[in-house]
Amino acid sequence: MSNPSILILPGDGIGQEVMAEVKKIISWYGDKRGLAFDVSEDLVGGAAYDVHGVPLADATMAKAQEVDAVLLGAVGGPKYDVLDFSVKPERGLLRLRKEMDLYANLRPAQCFDALADFSSLKKDVVAGLDIMIVRELTSGVYFGTPRGIFEENGERVGINTQRYTEAEVERVARSAFELAMRRNKKVCSMEKANVMESGILWREVVTRVGADYPEVELSHMYADNGAMQLVRWPKQFDVIVTDNLFGDILSDCAAMLTGSLGMLPSASLGAPMANGRPKAMYEPVHGSAPDIAGQGKANPIACILSFAMALRYSFDQGEEATRLEKAVEKVLADGVRTADLMGPEGGTPVSTAQMGDKIIEALDASL
Ligand code: NAD
Ligand code: IPM
Ligand code: MN
Repeated sequence: MSNPSILILPGDGIGQEVMAEVKKIISWYGDKRGLAFDVSEDLVGGAAYDVHGVPLADATMAKAQEVDAVLLGAVGGPKYDVLDFSVKPERGLLRLRKEMDLYANLRPAQCFDALADFSSLKKDVVAGLDIMIVRELTSGVYFGTPRGIFEENGERVGINTQRYTEAEVERVARSAFELAMRRNKKVCSMEKANVMESGILWREVVTRVGADYPEVELSHMYADNGAMQLVRWPKQFDVIVTDNLFGDILSDCAAMLTGSLGMLPSASLGAPMANGRPKAMYEPVHGSAPDIAGQGKANPIACILSFAMALRYSFDQGEEATRLEKAVEKVLADGVRTADLMGPEGGTPVSTAQMGDKIIEALDASL
């Protein structure tokens, strides 16, 4: 049997720096655990635009459809701000998500004990936090039509459309309930059914799907209240299911509960392929961080934990995923910190590469 295949798309800015650390970890699994992967690498985002004039070449898209898992770093940067909207780096990422039909984006926010003091919230609010945001990723206002900038009555008008079909809500709701069954059996659905028809439909469909999961406690919350509750008392939540735009915003917010945006991984999952594995792309929640790119300051943990999610969801290697997560936990417990995890009391931060090396040392120590 051939090895499982991975397509690496480092992208732009710190995407390249954090992915370099993931590559070391993939090699470690080959060398030390006999887990060999067929790894290929390609361009996405601004890096692809620079070479091909588009943020995702058709050949790269085709490769992404064939592999067992895609690992993506980050896309975007000020250099590309002037480009036409249709070829902006972000369009490459959105094309991957849409054409691979990766409708369920799992964004776990877990607060490691060693960082509980570091969150901008009080320690007892975040200590032990373990929530899962399930963000719908292929529809909603990101993709709905009509969209564009039009001329209307002598002025320009910018239009985007929030649009959800019942089937789109149903499948992401099902993902959320299935996850909840393996966790603490609670789902909170967030929309704005008070002001949006799409929210009314969302709530109805989630409620209907919930009837298939009588053991799961389902609640509904308006997304604005949800944002407030996330910082007030996040431990009230287990699984949160929400739409594409609300999920984008709420997950950045949840990232700070864990100490830094540099800590939050994600898995973008679609329907099962012929081999039973879901179509999948793994991507940190953060972006290309132009303010620190090229300085070796980026925290690689979000990208590394995204690979742990790949081990769990694409490669049936739950124990190895836990090994990697424990290695990250150990390194943080030892006080190893990148600059984003430095408190006001200061200290000496490690570089992106040093953080990767420390995690490899902890992996070695786990054998
Ligand atoms: P960003 O996530 O890139 O950065 C926000 C802030 O968080 C910055 O101060 C940055 O330095 C910090 N940060 C982010 N990741 C970090 C890490 N791993 N370690 C340490 N600090 C980290 O968001 P932005 O500045 O709003 O966007 C910059 C570019 O990235 C834009 O072009 C945007 O479209 C793109 N973006 C891409 C993705 C993606 O590829 N998935 C996600 C978000 C933003
Ligand atoms: C994310 C990002 C993307 C999004 C952008 C870069 C397209 O913010 O993955 O969270 O808005 O989905
Ligand atoms: Mn985002």
